[in-house]
Amino acid sequence: MLKELSAEELPRVEKEIVDFINTYTTHEELKESMLYSIEAGGKRIRPLIVLATVKAFQKELSVPVRQIAGALEMIHTYSLIHDDLPAMDNDDLRRGKPTNHKVFGDALAILAGDGLLTGAFQLISETTLSPSENVLLIQLLAKSSGIGGMVAGQAGDMAAEKRHVPLNDLKLIHREKTGALLTYAFVAGGILANQTEYVIQLLEKLGGHIGLAFQIRDDLLDVVGNAEELGKQVGQDEKLDKSTYPGLLGLDGAKQALTDELRQAKAVVQQLAKTTDFQPKVFEELLALFTLKE
Ligand code: IPE
Ligand code: IPE
Ligand code: MG
Ligand code: MG
Ligand code: MG
Repeated sequence: MLKELSAEELPRVEKEIVDFINTYTTHEELKESMLYSIEAGGKRIRPLIVLATVKAFQKELSVPVRQIAGALEMIHTYSLIHDDLPAMDNDDLRRGKPTNHKVFGDALAILAGDGLLTGAFQLISETTLSPSENVLLIQLLAKSSGIGGMVAGQAGDMAAEKRHVPLNDLKLIHREKTGALLTYAFVAGGILANQTEYVIQLLEKLGGHIGLAFQIRDDLLDVVGNAEELGKQVGQDEKLDKSTYPGLLGLDGAKQALTDELRQAKAVVQQLAKTTDFQPKVFEELLALFTLKE
């Protein structure tokens, strides 16, 4: 079910993004730079969660759903372009290709990020959703990507280099830098599927566990994964002396923390399964994506 969703629906989301960029960008090299990082691919996990959530509630995958999913992927891609800059993680490889600044230079990479960030909000503002739903989705996206969300988490991540922050601080950094956007994917899906406040709260809780799990897994893969499969260099966290789960808890401790978060996520899915119209199968398949394959 998730496979079909990826194969059939993600290309439509990608088309929303590419068409949007082609329609509105007036500077040729800026356009190329944005499209370079978007078209490099990636797992598209955030748009997939939006689609899977709408689907799990048996609602139609309409154009506005694709636009919200696309806007979220634009923001995520911007966060990666900036994350890779020499002033941040200084990475050379992303999505299996040289990083944006390696190809286009730092200035255009910064501007490509700026363009994807601002463009995402323009794209959402152009949907045919009701004004109140639109404003809510814009507001939540601003919150999760901004100064109390991803941007704050990235600031925390940079400040936690070369010193060992306590687990609770690290948890907050991970929740903000990665969890916030993943949580948005679930919550936006619930809003688009016209769900009740109770269900939205469950989706938020689920997003919290999945978001944390995702960054713990990312930290683990930086230690045990390989560049070819991941499309990005490994061993970078140790090189930069980042605060990470494996760094703080060891490999086994980090694996245990990942298992714990996923177990809690499963429990929330079981709660969701008791609500009307919810089909858990697609979420069960989704959760499987976050485990660490040995
Ligand atoms: C990488 O995100 C950055 C983190 C938040 C850990 P992804 O692992 O989703 O990257 P892509 O989109 O697949 O390239
Ligand atoms: C990045 O975390 C989180 C973002 C908001 C982009 P990382 O710095 O660990 O992501 P990777 O490992 O470079 O993909
Ligand atoms: Mg980083
Ligand atoms: Mg990085
Ligand atoms: Mg990482």
